Amino acid sequence: MDNLLEVKDLKIWVAGAARPILVVDGVDLQVRAGSVLGIAGESGSGKSISAQSLIGILGEKFVYEGEIRLEGRLIGDGGEPFAAIRGREISMIFQDPLNSLHPQIQIGKQLTEHAGRSGQDSRKADKRARELLREVRIPDPDWAMKAYPHQFSGGMRQRIAIAMALVGDPKVLIADEPTTALDVTVQAGVLRLIKRLCVERDLGVMIITHDLGVMNAMADDLTVMYAGRVVESGPATQVLQSPRHPYTEQLVGSLPAGPARDGGRARNMRAIAGEPATPRNRPAGCAFHPRCPWAEDRCAVTVPPVEYRGEGRRSACLVDPFFSVDDVRKAAAR
Ligand SMILES: Nc1ncnc2c1ncn2[C@@H]1O[C@H](COP(=O)(O)OP(=O)(O)OP(=O)(O)O)[C@@H](O)[C@H]1O
Ligand code: SF4
Ligand SMILES: [Mg+2]
Repeated sequence: MDNLLEVKDLKIWVAGAARPILVVDGVDLQVRAGSVLGIAGESGSGKSISAQSLIGILGEKFVYEGEIRLEGRLIGDGGEPFAAIRGREISMIFQDPLNSLHPQIQIGKQLTEHAGRSGQDSRKADKRARELLREVRIPDPDWAMKAYPHQFSGGMRQRIAIAMALVGDPKVLIADEPTTALDVTVQAGVLRLIKRLCVERDLGVMIITHDLGVMNAMADDLTVMYAGRVVESGPATQVLQSPRHPYTEQLVGSLPAGPARDGGRARNMRAIAGEPATPRNRPAGCAFHPRCPWAEDRCAVTVPPVEYRGEGRRSACLVDPFFSVDDVRKAAAR
């Protein structure tokens, strides 16, 4: 299936006290229509910054370089401006739905104003707003149109934020930790909604979450980041069940059996021994080398390139310790 959104060699610098700091270093991402790309990685690994760069909402102290293509068209620097794409072709929802909702404006007005900016006339916009509220399963859309954000629970607010993101009929939906702030009892419903919209609307979804149980249930493809770089990517089930990169292997532990066994309590990423590297304190060579049980001398010197490992999988490891006999057989058969 062709990529809907394709990001090549994304680099992002943030202004630092002495010099700019490279916080995202050469990230490639692909989002396919009707499928979910999950982005995983410890805190500070550059997930949010990467996502924000795709709709041009990085603050002024950030600079990016790289190629962002939507259906093959270059967007952002040197291409179509982000302002023309944001909220129309690519929408984003955040951890806190109040980032997308104005607290003192009625939901209906917010939805229709949004629609107005998307060029729809007001009667049509009103009808469409109600349809969207129904689509995201808000009970009593007529009442909801007149209500304010504080009159809804967190889960309902996130559903409304999703409705808001859908007003421009986007092709891509980016969700940054969309359920982290929600009560566990409503998280699953919001995730099911995102998955349903992905399938029904043929949306390309990019979801960032710390919860590998969510990744397991939602993601078709998975990209794992460490210290601002991609360390592994590929079909989510395979990456989670037989990780190819030592960092991913440490991260996922015994998934998918883990989440099922303890009823979901240990679904977050496993803590890994050693100090997490962030882009600000990225070790030389492979950034994971101070924590890696497989590290060799060369790992402290050479940055491992992301290499194709067959069957849609890529990883960036000089040693590649989980290269199995099966892999050798498959490679020989190709
Ligand atoms: N506003 C900022 N000002 C300066 N540096 C920043 C800012 N936001 C992020 N960074 C830098 O960019 C790096 C990546 O941040 P980002 O928010 O993308 O991480 P993340 O992977 O989303 O983490 P989390 O899981 O905690 O949300 C951080 O380690 C930090 O060094
Ligand atoms: S390159 Fe070396 S340090 Fe990095 S993950 Fe591979 S084995 Fe570990
Ligand atoms: Mg983040």
